[in-house]
Amino acid sequence: MKPKLGSCYYPEHWPEERWQKDAEEMVAAGLSWVRIGEFAWSRLEPEQGIQNFDWLDRAISILGNVGLNIVMSTPTAAPPRWVVDKWPDMLLVDEEGRSRQFGSRRHYCFSHEGYLEESLRISKAVAERYGNNPFIKAWQLDNEYGCHETTLSYSPSALKAFRNWIAKKYESIDQLNKAWKNVFWSMEYNSFDQVGLPNLTVTDPNPIHELDFKRFSSDQVVNFNRSQASVMRQYTKMPLIHNYMGRITDFNHYDVGKDLDIASWDSYPLGFLEDRSTQDDEFKLRFMRHGDPDFQAFHHDLYRTVGQGRWWVMEQQPGPVNWAPYNPEPAPGAVRLWSWEAIAHGAEVVSYFRWRQAPFAQEQMHAGLQRPDGENAPGITQASQVSSELKEFKDIEQVQSKIALIFDYESCWAWEIQPQGKSFDYFELVYDNYRALRSLGLSVDILPPNQSDLKGYKVVLMPGLMRVSRELEDAIESFEGVLISGPRAGSKTTNMSIPSQLPPIVPGVKATVASAETLRPNAFISIKGLGSFKTWMETLIDYDNIIEETEDGRAAVVGHEKNIYIAGWADQMTLKMIFSRVCESKDISTTELEDCVRVRETLTHRFWFNYSNQECNVGSVCIPPSGVIWESIKG
Ligand code: GAL
Repeated sequence: MKPKLGSCYYPEHWPEERWQKDAEEMVAAGLSWVRIGEFAWSRLEPEQGIQNFDWLDRAISILGNVGLNIVMSTPTAAPPRWVVDKWPDMLLVDEEGRSRQFGSRRHYCFSHEGYLEESLRISKAVAERYGNNPFIKAWQLDNEYGCHETTLSYSPSALKAFRNWIAKKYESIDQLNKAWKNVFWSMEYNSFDQVGLPNLTVTDPNPIHELDFKRFSSDQVVNFNRSQASVMRQYTKMPLIHNYMGRITDFNHYDVGKDLDIASWDSYPLGFLEDRSTQDDEFKLRFMRHGDPDFQAFHHDLYRTVGQGRWWVMEQQPGPVNWAPYNPEPAPGAVRLWSWEAIAHGAEVVSYFRWRQAPFAQEQMHAGLQRPDGENAPGITQASQVSSELKEFKDIEQVQSKIALIFDYESCWAWEIQPQGKSFDYFELVYDNYRALRSLGLSVDILPPNQSDLKGYKVVLMPGLMRVSRELEDAIESFEGVLISGPRAGSKTTNMSIPSQLPPIVPGVKATVASAETLRPNAFISIKGLGSFKTWMETLIDYDNIIEETEDGRAAVVGHEKNIYIAGWADQMTLKMIFSRVCESKDISTTELEDCVRVRETLTHRFWFNYSNQECNVGSVCIPPSGVIWESIKG
């Protein structure tokens, strides 16, 4: 597979006379893909019953005729005002019971049947017209499901759909009462019609009520996407894509991905560092112009799995964004660095957002590859450099990593509902494990919780996995490598209760969690000869073998060479020590890297990345500031 570059373009934002020049300049810059149309609904259909596609016909033919491949989009993330007037109750409702209003985007509720119909109707209209257009080589459905906190909706439509969902799942109200254990606090119901949504309760709702609501809400996203995908499939043979976001965990991306051909995501390293990272200020200052060296890579690895091997970066940050608390300029070379990191992780296309900075509306301060006046912005030179450098590669092929890390959306929801300690965050826990692996120079595959085959992996990690699925249990049975689990692994039933046999319910782990405690941010429990636990610690009993012990005399790590259980949230030093020993036992070589240096291996190359302003050396390898270098590892 030979990676390509592209950009996101909005012909409706620019005078028509400009389109030809833009198209030619994209090609001259080394881009071969262009994504269009995802917010153009009000121009395609200004009023009910009035359609105007002529301008888009002309834009598509101009872009296509210069040789660009087009990603056409369904415009359903931005329903125009008249659609809202037609369906006033289509607006999503937040947890406080307030309707989100028209005037930006993503204002729809996934459960509103009228809006679903409307979105299928406009998708069909676009697909009918362009499904066989020779210039259109892929489709994007909607835009960033769940972004701006739009997965969960507490609307009347959501309530109706939720009642249907629980009725289908539990069949009778007695069974629901039993499964939810509603005897607690007299929460028992007499009929499904009495069940509300889990918001505005006086204190915590029943955790299983919340978990089922999150499962339901995720299913609503899956259904919305699936309905749109099935309309599109009737009119096009081209691949269907969605552009996911960074650190959005409100819906199950693996489930959505099953109905699509390619996963993509929108990678904004500096925006994410400022807006979504829980790292301290010192870290943010150090990486303010490069981004967190692991955040992009984590999502590249995640979405490679969501896309079943096929994935893109649909939007790549090209300069300062507008939406984070602070929006610095990337370091010179950082756009190239990010592009290559994506390519090394298997991106088929890296597409920059956006072609030209818009001088108007919400994103007028968001950089593009061009400035608002049409002159080049710094990012474009780096994009062109990547494009020329890519000529040196025939293709870039991925290989299965030796290490796999399980990431589970349901565990995210469970621990959000019941963190037990303010700072317990499942994403962070998994991400800490990922960072420790990367800082040992390892390439990692991320797997879903229902992975049924672990063949080829030498080490599999499942921190915080709330329960082990039947499929995974079977896979573990025949797994020959080392399984590392805990903390909090196998600690809940599917109904969000403590299992009758106390946790961890993890195949091959012999231990019992007698109790669990959470720690305030400045409290740590030292582990003899290693680092310490933070945030979460379990007191284990009945284990067969202790590997590491805490200073206060509790088991920190138990198990044996094939199956290890970690009893707390270990710091980076501890994780690295545990992982490097395990790797050594499996003949996997590790290299301790500085926190700004990262490496990724493909079938034929080793790529080195430097997320800093200083030159970095690893053995004989010297990586320039903000640099990427590669070496061949096979003929
Ligand atoms: C993405 C979105 C784009 C644009 C961009 C700005 O989240 O898909 O439409 O808003 O962010 O960074």
